[in-house]
Amino acid sequence: MRVPQTICLLVGTAISYALIVVGIPALGALMRPGTWPVVPAHLVGLYMFFIVIVILLYAAGDDERWKRIRNEIQFFFGAQKAWLARSAVIATISLAGGYLAYAAARSDLDTPPELRAIHPAPPSSFSVGGKMYNLLTLENPLRADKKNFARNVRAGAEIFFKNCVFCHGDKLDGRGHYADAFHPLPANFRDIGTIAQLQESYLFWRIATGGPGLPREAAPWASSMPVWHRFM
Ligand code: HEC
Repeated sequence: MRVPQTICLLVGTAISYALIVVGIPALGALMRPGTWPVVPAHLVGLYMFFIVIVILLYAAGDDERWKRIRNEIQFFFGAQKAWLARSAVIATISLAGGYLAYAAARSDLDTPPELRAIHPAPPSSFSVGGKMYNLLTLENPLRADKKNFARNVRAGAEIFFKNCVFCHGDKLDGRGHYADAFHPLPANFRDIGTIAQLQESYLFWRIATGGPGLPREAAPWASSMPVWHRFM
C-alpha cells in the first residue's frame, strides 16, 4: 500500500514546524552552549506561511499528484469507510481550537518577569464619562469645602465600606476577604508609601480607571482594581 500523499504533506509540514521551533534554538545552543534562544512567534508564523505555500505549490505542480491528493481528500471527507478517522480528526481540531481559545483567555497568575511600576506616571489628562480632567491642575473640591469636611469624610468612609473593604480591608491594610486571591495584592493604604504620599489628583485617576487604566509599564501584572467610574 502506498502511503497517502496528503499524510506525507501533513507530516512534512509538522516536521518543518518542529525544525523551526526546536531546530533553530538547538542550533543556537550548539553555537553558544548553555543558551536556548527562542524563535519569535511572528517569525515562526512567517516561516510557516512560506513553507505551506511551497508545499501547496509542490502538491499542485504535477497533475498526477494533484489528482491523487484530491481523491484522498474526497475519500477522507466522503467515504463511509473513513468515518472513524474523520471523526477523530474533527474532534481533535475542535478540542485543540477550544483549548487554544481557553489558553488565550485564561489569566495568568504567575508573577510576570517584569518589575511592577507600582506608581506609574499618570497621563497629564484623562476623560471619564465624557468629561476631561487635567491631572496637573486638578484639585479636590471636597477638601476646599471646610464647612462640610467631617461630613464628606464620613461619606467617603461609607463608600469605602460599601465598595472597597472586600479587597483593601477594614483596617485599610490591603487584607480584605478577597485579598489573597489577587496578585498583585490590593494596595495597603496604611503603608506610608501609598496614598499618604500620593497627590489626590493621582488617586482620583487611579480609582477612576483602576487596573485596566494602568499604563503599559504597570500593566503586565493583571491588577484586579476595578474601574470605578463605571460603577460610581
Ligand atoms: C477587587 C479588589 C479591589 C477592590 C474592590 C478595590 N480595589 Fe483598589 N486596588 C486593588 C488592587 C489589587 C490594587 C493594587 C494594584 C494596582 O495598583 O492596581 C489596588 C490599588 C488601589 C489604589 C492605588 C494605591 C497606590 O498606592 O497606587 C487605590 C488608590 C485604590 N486601590 C483605591 C480603591 C478604592 C477607593 C476602592 C473602592 C471604591 C477600591 N480600591 C476597591 C484591588 C481592589
